[in-house]
Amino acid sequence: MILKPDAVARGLVGEILARFERKGLSFVAVDLRTLDDATLRAHYAEHAGKPFLEPLVALMSSGPSLLAVLEGPGEDTVGIVRNLLGATDPASAAPGTIRGDLGLALPANLVHGSDSPATAAAEIARFFPALG
Ligand code: RTP
Ligand code: MG
Repeated sequence: MILKPDAVARGLVGEILARFERKGLSFVAVDLRTLDDATLRAHYAEHAGKPFLEPLVALMSSGPSLLAVLEGPGEDTVGIVRNLLGATDPASAAPGTIRGDLGLALPANLVHGSDSPATAAAEIARFFPALG
């Protein structure tokens, strides 16, 4: 998962990471890094041509992100993480979720979570190649 530049700029890193810790998930790796344009366009390849891509890339390259690999006890860590994130649009995300409690308007929805185990594996390889 990624704490996006809006989360880092607002000083919400501790608040958001604490939610994953309280849930019981473990951190395998974390890194604070400003993502470059080429990396972001690869990361968001599924959204090529969509109207929100350019504002999204602009936000995502605007400052450091906190990248993290999370591990859970079972097979559905992706689903657990995405439930904690909440719906994509923070304006309608449920209270109790990260986006619902802390976000207000797209594209600044604070967090990214891999959407499947296969995507998670590809994103770990992209962002943390040393993990194998
Ligand atoms: P994510 O990939 O960030 O975990 O979120 P997601 O699966 O819920 O959303 P996705 O459809 O993959 O969109 C990726 C990011 O693009 C921005 N977005 N803006 N203006 C819009 O309609 C719109 N739709 C998506 C959000 O920042 C979203 O997280
Ligand atoms: Mg997505």
